[in-house]
Amino acid sequence: MNQKAAAQAAAREKGSFLTDIEELRRRARQHIMEGAVTADYKGDRKTVLRVLNEALATELVCVLRYKRHHYMAKGIHSQAVAAEFLEHAAEEQGHADQIAERIVQLDGAPNFSPEGMLTRSHSEYLEGETLLEMIREDLIAERIAVESYSEIIRYLGDNDPTSRRMMEEILAKEEEHAEDMKTLLETIGKEEKQRER
Ligand SMILES: [Fe+2]
Ligand SMILES: [Fe+2]
Repeated sequence: MNQKAAAQAAAREKGSFLTDIEELRRRARQHIMEGAVTADYKGDRKTVLRVLNEALATELVCVLRYKRHHYMAKGIHSQAVAAEFLEHAAEEQGHADQIAERIVQLDGAPNFSPEGMLTRSHSEYLEGETLLEMIREDLIAERIAVESYSEIIRYLGDNDPTSRRMMEEILAKEEEHAEDMKTLLETIGKEEKQRER
């Protein structure tokens, strides 16, 4: 049992649960300017914000890479693959928005600065020459995201369940993305081998 739950249980025993609610309300009013961050927030806010800003940079780099791949694939008449890249770009943008939103909820500032973005990002920006190279780079980037987000989720644990749930949702999507890229790699790889024969 954590401290607050223990205090509530003790208060309930004494028949003074109401005062506890009063106390909650008083604290909520007193710290109203802190937004979603209440006294109950157990996370190390500074670290959580840094980690979330790294995830934000990861997503933004993924948006750029998928966009580049979308336009390049279109240029080499691979419409289906180009469409898949575009879809992923849009989903990574959605993730970036979710993360930025959460950073603001935690009274932080989302870092959208292009300067240092690649250093903050866990995944890389690699262009790739051929369609196969592009897909391979995307698969690698997705696998990096899956690993680093799993680590972030473990770190958040019970300290920030809201951020953790968001990251779990995003992680599930990255796993789908990785699977999509793996399937594409296999089909395009086969097609190219057949053409070589
Ligand atoms: Fe993403
Ligand atoms: Fe992804």
